[in-house]
Amino acid sequence: MGGLSAEERPVIGQVANDVRAAIEEVLADKQAAFDRAETERRLAAETIDVTLPGRTVATGSVHPLTKVTQEIEDIFLGMGYTIAEGPEVETDYFNFEALNLPKDHPARDMQDSFYITDEILLRTHTSPVQIRAMKNADGATPLKVICPGRVYRRDDDDATHSFMFHQIEGLVVGPDIRMSDLKGTLLQFVQAMYGPQVQIRLRPSFFPFTEPSAEVDVTCTQCGGQGCRMCKQSGWIEILGCGMVHPKVLEHGGFDPEQVSGFAFGMGVERIALLKYDIDDIRHFYNNDLRFLGQFARM
Ligand code: PHE
Repeated sequence: MGGLSAEERPVIGQVANDVRAAIEEVLADKQAAFDRAETERRLAAETIDVTLPGRTVATGSVHPLTKVTQEIEDIFLGMGYTIAEGPEVETDYFNFEALNLPKDHPARDMQDSFYITDEILLRTHTSPVQIRAMKNADGATPLKVICPGRVYRRDDDDATHSFMFHQIEGLVVGPDIRMSDLKGTLLQFVQAMYGPQVQIRLRPSFFPFTEPSAEVDVTCTQCGGQGCRMCKQSGWIEILGCGMVHPKVLEHGGFDPEQVSGFAFGMGVERIALLKYDIDDIRHFYNNDLRFLGQFARM
């Protein structure tokens, strides 16, 4: 530009500008074409077929016994009970002695036991937790607890027996606790569990730790009380044992039987679940067959 005359300078300058603009435009077009091609390549390479079915993730489900235990717990929590637990390896004192079953008492035969030593065994029922809960309460009333847990008996396994099963114990201690309180509580419980149409009946029975004692039947869940094979035409099914806490048991728990009274009950979770879900063999609960367990995922 330095060698140009004053007249030539604007003309040549204009031409130079035009040339630069032309080159820039071509370059920009090329760049845009490259960008487009790259975008298209990536779109093609990263295509997702939204019509493909997704991969299913296997989800577990709560075990039916856990489910039923939680349901029972919820019902009693709603009635103001708290949950108490105790050891599965228990002393002879808590499992039998404190429950008014001294050594050599014939009623010990009702619960064939796994002994570890002369004084230690696998608990045969959840009733020892009654004694533990009473001792913990240190004389304070009202005491309202349920005690869920595993129990062990020397039974041969079959459709209705297992060497290990689950129980839920209930215990209420306070001034003026009566048998009618027990009956009302159990009626409330079974209706919450099986429906408002279900009734209960109490039959006299015997447990060393309750006096009087009763066996509780519910309206047959299969036939609604009409009589069928399951209830042996009686219309009733036995579901639990209960009674008024024996004075000696209250004493072992640190309560004065002249001042307070109490009721207790104990039920088998397997039995409650068999009836609720119409299952015919207790062993289904322990075989870990996912085809069986999966059925409870949405119940
Ligand atoms: N412990 C008794 C059993 O296992 C059940 C029971 C509990 C009965 C509490 C009465 C009171 O058979």
